[in-house]
Amino acid sequence: MLSYYSSLLVFGLLSSSQLVAGHGAIIAATGDAGGNGTALGISAAIPRTGTTRNPFEQDTTRFKGDAAATCGETLLAGDNDIESGTTAVLASSGGTLPQISQGGQLQMTLHQVNSDGAGPYTCMIDATGTGTQWTAMQVTTNVPGNKNGRNQDGAATSFPLTAAVAADQTCTGTVAGQSNVCMVRCQNPANAGPFGGCVPVQMAGNTTAPAAAAPAAGNTTAVAAKKVPRVAAEENGLKRAVRFFA
Ligand SMILES: *[C@@H]1O[C@H](CO)[C@@H](O)[C@H](O)[C@H]1NC(C)=O
Ligand SMILES: *[C@@H]1O[C@H](CO)[C@@H](O)[C@H](O)[C@H]1NC(C)=O
Ligand SMILES: *[C@@H]1O[C@H](CO)[C@@H](O)[C@H](O)[C@H]1NC(C)=O
Repeated sequence: MLSYYSSLLVFGLLSSSQLVAGHGAIIAATGDAGGNGTALGISAAIPRTGTTRNPFEQDTTRFKGDAAATCGETLLAGDNDIESGTTAVLASSGGTLPQISQGGQLQMTLHQVNSDGAGPYTCMIDATGTGTQWTAMQVTTNVPGNKNGRNQDGAATSFPLTAAVAADQTCTGTVAGQSNVCMVRCQNPANAGPFGGCVPVQMAGNTTAPAAAAPAAGNTTAVAAKKVPRVAAEENGLKRAVRFFA
């Protein structure tokens, strides 16, 4: 029995390491209101001309590991950090994230590295920009591929991938010094993935200031002001009680 399970385990490890020969990366993104960017973790130094693990898969996001539920990880830099990753995206985009508008769209370039980085991709958006509260987006232009995200013919090829922004979408995140930020996440159904990426975007032209913050904790001025009437009422009650028992 033991050897049966051991060989199953060895088989499993071998087959999964062979399967991790696939990836798709979001190497460019533009909003309907301008701006440009990439997915978190994308490196301009990685060439897009081949299919081997090193260097071609190095900056592809896989939604596995500690950050599987948020923005995943890359071989190159480990878990994608939203703050520093967005700072890097801003540095390579001239300081303006992809600008989206309500009812608009995010147009992306999905670079398929090898066979299982294919489509179909599903996309979702987090209005808080933190990669924690995902809402499905409609994908209006998709990448070809079968139900397992495979397509041999798509290797080392870039495809358009477009997601629609809902008419009532809001973006309220503050990330890397930018306000009104949303996070868009697109991923394929590959068994060894999902592969794809997280793209930080900004709601265009929102000049509404965030609501004033509540008084800081420990501000006794506000608290004391509220306490006064109750203390006074209690004192009156006490005086009445004293009179009653006197
Ligand atoms: C992104 O926008 C900046 C500023 O407009 C521009 O300089 C840069 O060439 C753009 N990058 C791409 C890849 O379009
Ligand atoms: C504009 O910003 C305000 C304040 O942060 C926010 O409440 C509102 O939802 C934003 N609107 C959009 C369309 O993102
Ligand atoms: C404390 O609260 C009071 C009353 O709301 C306000 O006037 C004051 O500016 C606050 N102080 C600080 C340090 O937040």
